[in-house]
Amino acid sequence: MNRSNIPGTAGQVAALFGLPAKPLYGKEGAPVYDAIARHDPSEIRDVLRLARGPVLELACGSGRLTVPLAARGHEVVALDNSAALLGMLADRLPAGADVRLVEGDMTAFELHRRFGLVVLGTSSVCLLDTSQRAELFACVRRHLAGVFYVSVLDFAGLLLARQAERSTVVVQDQSMITLFQHFDGRRGVRTTSLLQESADHRALYTSEVRMVSSEQLAEELAAAGFKILERRRGLDSEQVQVQLICGRHDD
Ligand SMILES: C[S@@+](CC[C@H](N)C(=O)[O-])C[C@H]1O[C@@H](n2cnc3c(N)ncnc32)[C@H](O)[C@@H]1O
Repeated sequence: MNRSNIPGTAGQVAALFGLPAKPLYGKEGAPVYDAIARHDPSEIRDVLRLARGPVLELACGSGRLTVPLAARGHEVVALDNSAALLGMLADRLPAGADVRLVEGDMTAFELHRRFGLVVLGTSSVCLLDTSQRAELFACVRRHLAGVFYVSVLDFAGLLLARQAERSTVVVQDQSMITLFQHFDGRRGVRTTSLLQESADHRALYTSEVRMVSSEQLAEELAAAGFKILERRRGLDSEQVQVQLICGRHDD
Protein backbone atom coordinates (compact mmCIF):
# COMPACT_ATOMS: atom_id res chain seq x y z
CA MET A 1 0.00 0.00 0.00
CA ASN A 2 1.42 3.42 -0.87
CA ARG A 3 0.43 6.65 0.85
CA SER A 4 -2.01 7.70 -1.86
CA ASN A 5 -4.30 4.75 -1.15
CA ILE A 6 -4.31 4.69 2.65
CA PRO A 7 -7.92 5.61 3.43
CA GLY A 8 -9.16 8.25 5.86
CA THR A 9 -7.19 10.34 8.35
CA ALA A 10 -4.12 8.09 8.22
CA GLY A 11 -3.94 8.78 4.47
CA GLN A 12 -4.23 12.52 5.11
CA VAL A 13 -1.42 12.30 7.69
CA ALA A 14 0.73 10.39 5.19
CA ALA A 15 0.15 13.08 2.56
CA LEU A 16 0.69 15.93 5.03
CA PHE A 17 4.09 14.69 6.22
CA GLY A 18 5.14 12.83 3.06
CA LEU A 19 5.25 9.51 4.90
CA PRO A 20 5.44 6.19 3.05
CA ALA A 21 3.16 3.47 4.47
CA LYS A 22 5.45 0.75 5.76
CA PRO A 23 4.24 -2.80 6.46
CA LEU A 24 3.01 -3.20 10.03
CA TYR A 25 4.68 -6.59 10.53
CA GLY A 26 7.97 -5.73 8.80
CA LYS A 27 11.35 -5.01 10.42
CA GLU A 28 10.55 -1.41 11.41
CA GLY A 29 6.83 -1.90 12.11
CA ALA A 30 7.26 -4.98 14.32
CA PRO A 31 8.36 -3.15 17.52
CA VAL A 32 5.55 -0.61 17.04
CA TYR A 33 2.95 -3.38 16.58
CA ASP A 34 4.39 -5.16 19.61
CA ALA A 35 4.23 -2.00 21.75
CA ILE A 36 0.46 -1.99 21.26
CA ALA A 37 -0.17 -5.76 21.19
CA ARG A 38 1.76 -6.76 24.29
CA HIS A 39 -0.75 -5.04 26.60
CA ASP A 40 -3.71 -6.94 25.15
CA PRO A 41 -4.74 -9.71 27.57
CA SER A 42 -7.62 -11.02 25.42
CA GLU A 43 -7.82 -14.74 24.53
CA ILE A 44 -4.95 -15.81 26.80
CA ARG A 45 -7.20 -17.52 29.37
CA ASP A 46 -9.32 -19.11 26.63
CA VAL A 47 -6.31 -20.57 24.84
CA LEU A 48 -4.74 -21.85 28.07
CA ARG A 49 -8.05 -23.55 28.95
CA LEU A 50 -8.01 -25.46 25.64
CA ALA A 51 -4.34 -26.45 25.61
CA ARG A 52 -3.65 -30.14 25.83
CA GLY A 53 -0.89 -32.01 24.07
CA PRO A 54 1.41 -30.18 21.69
CA VAL A 55 0.11 -26.81 20.49
CA LEU A 56 0.52 -25.30 17.02
CA GLU A 57 0.11 -21.54 17.07
CA LEU A 58 -0.34 -19.85 13.69
CA ALA A 59 0.42 -16.14 13.15
CA CYS A 60 2.08 -16.11 16.58
CA GLY A 61 3.64 -12.66 16.09
CA SER A 62 5.84 -11.58 19.00
CA GLY A 63 4.28 -14.21 21.24
CA ARG A 64 1.38 -12.56 23.04
CA LEU A 65 -0.23 -16.03 23.29
CA THR A 66 2.91 -18.17 22.84
CA VAL A 67 4.74 -16.93 25.94
CA PRO A 68 1.91 -17.76 28.40
CA LEU A 69 1.54 -21.21 26.78
CA ALA A 70 5.29 -21.83 27.07
CA ALA A 71 5.35 -20.53 30.65
CA ARG A 72 2.71 -23.17 31.55
CA GLY A 73 5.05 -25.86 30.20
CA HIS A 74 3.23 -26.60 26.93
CA GLU A 75 5.17 -27.76 23.91
CA VAL A 76 4.48 -25.16 21.20
CA VAL A 77 5.31 -24.88 17.52
CA ALA A 78 4.86 -21.18 16.72
CA LEU A 79 4.61 -20.14 13.06
CA ASP A 80 4.63 -16.67 11.52
CA ASN A 81 5.86 -15.15 8.26
CA SER A 82 7.47 -12.13 9.97
CA ALA A 83 11.12 -12.80 10.81
CA ALA A 84 11.15 -9.56 12.82
CA LEU A 85 8.29 -10.61 15.13
CA LEU A 86 9.69 -14.15 15.50
CA GLY A 87 13.02 -12.59 16.56
CA MET A 88 11.25 -10.62 19.28
CA LEU A 89 9.46 -13.78 20.44
CA ALA A 90 12.74 -15.73 20.59
CA ASP A 91 14.14 -13.08 22.95
CA ARG A 92 11.25 -13.31 25.40
CA LEU A 93 10.76 -17.06 25.75
CA PRO A 94 11.15 -18.32 29.31
CA ALA A 95 14.28 -20.37 30.06
CA GLY A 96 13.80 -24.04 29.15
CA ALA A 97 10.68 -23.35 27.06
CA ASP A 98 9.73 -26.18 24.70
CA VAL A 99 9.03 -23.90 21.74
CA ARG A 100 10.02 -24.29 18.08
CA LEU A 101 9.77 -21.17 15.95
CA VAL A 102 8.92 -21.63 12.29
CA GLU A 103 9.12 -18.86 9.70
CA GLY A 104 6.39 -19.85 7.28
CA ASP A 105 3.10 -19.11 5.61
CA MET A 106 -0.05 -20.23 7.43
CA THR A 107 -1.70 -21.01 4.08
CA ALA A 108 1.04 -23.44 2.98
CA PHE A 109 2.90 -25.38 5.65
CA GLU A 110 3.77 -29.03 6.29
CA LEU A 111 5.12 -30.00 9.71
CA HIS A 112 4.61 -33.79 9.36
CA ARG A 113 2.81 -34.13 12.70
CA ARG A 114 -0.49 -33.44 14.44
CA PHE A 115 -1.39 -31.20 17.36
CA GLY A 116 -3.93 -31.40 20.20
CA LEU A 117 -4.64 -27.69 19.75
CA VAL A 118 -4.19 -25.41 16.75
CA VAL A 119 -4.55 -21.70 17.60
CA LEU A 120 -5.18 -18.79 15.26
CA GLY A 121 -5.99 -15.84 17.51
CA THR A 122 -6.28 -12.06 17.29
CA SER A 123 -8.69 -12.37 14.32
CA SER A 124 -5.60 -12.99 12.15
CA VAL A 125 -7.69 -15.23 9.88
CA CYS A 126 -8.96 -11.92 8.41
CA LEU A 127 -5.51 -11.22 6.96
CA LEU A 128 -6.37 -13.82 4.32
CA ASP A 129 -8.75 -13.67 1.36
CA THR A 130 -11.35 -16.35 0.70
CA SER A 131 -9.13 -18.73 -1.26
CA GLN A 132 -6.21 -18.28 1.16
CA ARG A 133 -8.58 -19.11 4.04
CA ALA A 134 -9.54 -22.35 2.25
CA GLU A 135 -5.82 -23.21 1.92
CA LEU A 136 -5.26 -22.41 5.60
CA PHE A 137 -8.17 -24.65 6.68
CA ALA A 138 -6.83 -27.54 4.58
CA CYS A 139 -3.41 -27.18 6.25
CA VAL A 140 -4.98 -27.00 9.73
CA ARG A 141 -7.11 -30.09 9.07
CA ARG A 142 -4.03 -32.13 8.11
CA HIS A 143 -2.27 -31.11 11.34
CA LEU A 144 -5.20 -31.45 13.76
CA ALA A 145 -5.68 -34.23 16.31
CA GLY A 146 -7.87 -32.21 18.69
CA VAL A 147 -9.39 -28.74 18.50
CA PHE A 148 -8.88 -25.71 16.28
CA TYR A 149 -9.36 -22.34 18.00
CA VAL A 150 -9.95 -19.37 15.69
CA SER A 151 -11.15 -15.86 16.56
CA VAL A 152 -12.80 -13.21 14.44
CA LEU A 153 -14.48 -9.82 14.97
CA ASP A 154 -18.14 -9.13 14.24
CA PHE A 155 -18.91 -5.49 13.49
CA ALA A 156 -21.98 -3.44 14.34
CA GLY A 157 -24.22 -2.53 11.38
CA LEU A 158 -22.99 1.07 11.52
CA LEU A 159 -19.44 0.01 10.64
CA LEU A 160 -20.70 -2.24 7.84
CA ALA A 161 -23.05 0.28 6.26
CA ARG A 162 -20.66 3.07 5.36
CA GLN A 163 -17.12 4.34 5.87
CA ALA A 164 -16.21 5.01 9.51
CA GLU A 165 -13.10 5.68 11.57
CA ARG A 166 -11.93 5.15 15.13
CA SER A 167 -8.63 6.27 16.64
CA THR A 168 -6.80 5.75 19.93
CA VAL A 169 -3.63 7.36 21.26
CA VAL A 170 -1.07 5.59 23.44
CA VAL A 171 2.00 7.25 24.95
CA GLN A 172 4.76 4.78 25.54
CA ASP A 173 8.46 5.01 26.35
CA GLN A 174 9.68 8.02 24.39
CA SER A 175 6.98 8.01 21.71
CA MET A 176 3.32 8.53 21.01
CA ILE A 177 1.46 5.97 18.90
CA THR A 178 -1.85 6.80 17.26
CA LEU A 179 -3.88 3.79 16.17
CA PHE A 180 -6.22 4.59 13.28
CA GLN A 181 -8.84 2.07 12.25
CA HIS A 182 -10.70 2.78 9.02
CA PHE A 183 -13.76 0.66 8.20
CA ASP A 184 -15.06 0.36 4.67
CA GLY A 185 -18.10 -1.86 5.14
CA ARG A 186 -19.06 -1.81 1.45
CA ARG A 187 -15.64 -3.14 0.38
CA GLY A 188 -15.47 -5.31 3.52
CA VAL A 189 -12.02 -3.97 4.41
CA ARG A 190 -10.61 -2.61 7.67
CA THR A 191 -7.33 -0.71 7.48
CA THR A 192 -5.21 -0.43 10.61
CA SER A 193 -2.52 2.25 10.65
CA LEU A 194 -0.09 3.04 13.46
CA LEU A 195 1.50 6.49 13.45
CA GLN A 196 4.58 6.60 15.66
CA GLU A 197 5.88 10.02 16.67
CA SER A 198 8.75 11.04 18.90
CA ALA A 199 10.83 14.21 19.25
CA ASP A 200 12.93 13.39 16.16
CA HIS A 201 11.04 10.67 14.29
CA ARG A 202 7.68 10.07 12.61
CA ALA A 203 6.62 6.91 10.76
CA LEU A 204 3.44 5.22 9.60
CA TYR A 205 2.78 1.46 9.48
CA THR A 206 -0.27 -0.10 7.85
CA SER A 207 -2.10 -3.40 7.49
CA GLU A 208 -5.31 -4.20 5.63
CA VAL A 209 -7.70 -6.94 6.76
CA ARG A 210 -11.02 -8.29 5.54
CA MET A 211 -14.19 -7.84 7.56
CA VAL A 212 -15.25 -11.51 7.69
CA SER A 213 -18.25 -12.20 9.92
CA SER A 214 -18.31 -15.13 12.35
CA GLU A 215 -21.27 -16.51 10.41
CA GLN A 216 -19.32 -16.49 7.14
CA LEU A 217 -16.30 -18.01 8.85
CA ALA A 218 -18.47 -20.79 10.38
CA GLU A 219 -19.83 -21.59 6.90
CA GLU A 220 -16.33 -21.74 5.42
CA LEU A 221 -15.16 -23.98 8.27
CA ALA A 222 -18.07 -26.37 7.72
CA ALA A 223 -17.27 -26.50 3.99
CA ALA A 224 -13.64 -27.28 4.86
CA GLY A 225 -14.65 -30.29 6.99
CA PHE A 226 -14.82 -28.81 10.51
CA LYS A 227 -17.66 -28.94 13.02
CA ILE A 228 -18.16 -26.08 15.49
CA LEU A 229 -17.97 -27.49 19.01
CA GLU A 230 -18.30 -24.18 20.86
CA ARG A 231 -18.96 -20.56 19.88
CA ARG A 232 -18.09 -17.84 22.41
CA ARG A 233 -19.15 -14.25 21.89
CA GLY A 234 -17.63 -11.28 23.75
CA LEU A 235 -19.57 -8.42 25.31
CA ASP A 236 -21.72 -6.51 22.85
CA SER A 237 -19.94 -3.49 21.39
CA GLU A 238 -19.09 -2.05 17.97
CA GLN A 239 -16.47 -4.76 17.48
CA VAL A 240 -17.28 -8.05 19.21
CA GLN A 241 -14.78 -10.86 19.38
CA VAL A 242 -16.19 -14.28 18.48
CA GLN A 243 -14.24 -17.43 19.23
CA LEU A 244 -14.96 -20.59 17.26
CA ILE A 245 -13.71 -23.85 18.72
CA CYS A 246 -13.81 -26.56 16.09
CA GLY A 247 -13.06 -30.23 15.59
CA ARG A 248 -12.61 -32.24 12.41
CA HIS A 249 -15.95 -33.39 11.05
CA ASP A 250 -14.73 -36.98 10.71
CA ASP A 251 -13.49 -37.26 14.36
C1 LIG B 1 -2.70 -9.36 14.27
S1 LIG B 1 -1.07 -10.03 14.31
C2 LIG B 1 -1.29 -11.24 15.61
C3 LIG B 1 -0.01 -11.65 16.28
C4 LIG B 1 -0.17 -12.39 17.60
N1 LIG B 1 -1.03 -13.55 17.48
C5 LIG B 1 -0.71 -11.44 18.67
O1 LIG B 1 -1.75 -11.73 19.24
O2 LIG B 1 -0.06 -10.43 18.91
C6 LIG B 1 -1.06 -10.98 12.83
C7 LIG B 1 0.17 -11.82 12.61
O3 LIG B 1 -0.03 -12.59 11.42
C8 LIG B 1 1.23 -12.71 10.75
N2 LIG B 1 0.93 -13.10 9.37
C9 LIG B 1 0.33 -12.38 8.40
N3 LIG B 1 0.17 -13.11 7.29
C10 LIG B 1 0.68 -14.34 7.57
C11 LIG B 1 0.82 -15.55 6.82
N4 LIG B 1 0.35 -15.66 5.58
N5 LIG B 1 1.40 -16.62 7.42
C12 LIG B 1 1.88 -16.53 8.68
N6 LIG B 1 1.77 -15.42 9.44
C13 LIG B 1 1.18 -14.34 8.89
C14 LIG B 1 1.86 -11.34 10.95
O4 LIG B 1 3.25 -11.37 10.74
C15 LIG B 1 1.46 -11.06 12.41
O5 LIG B 1 2.42 -11.55 13.30
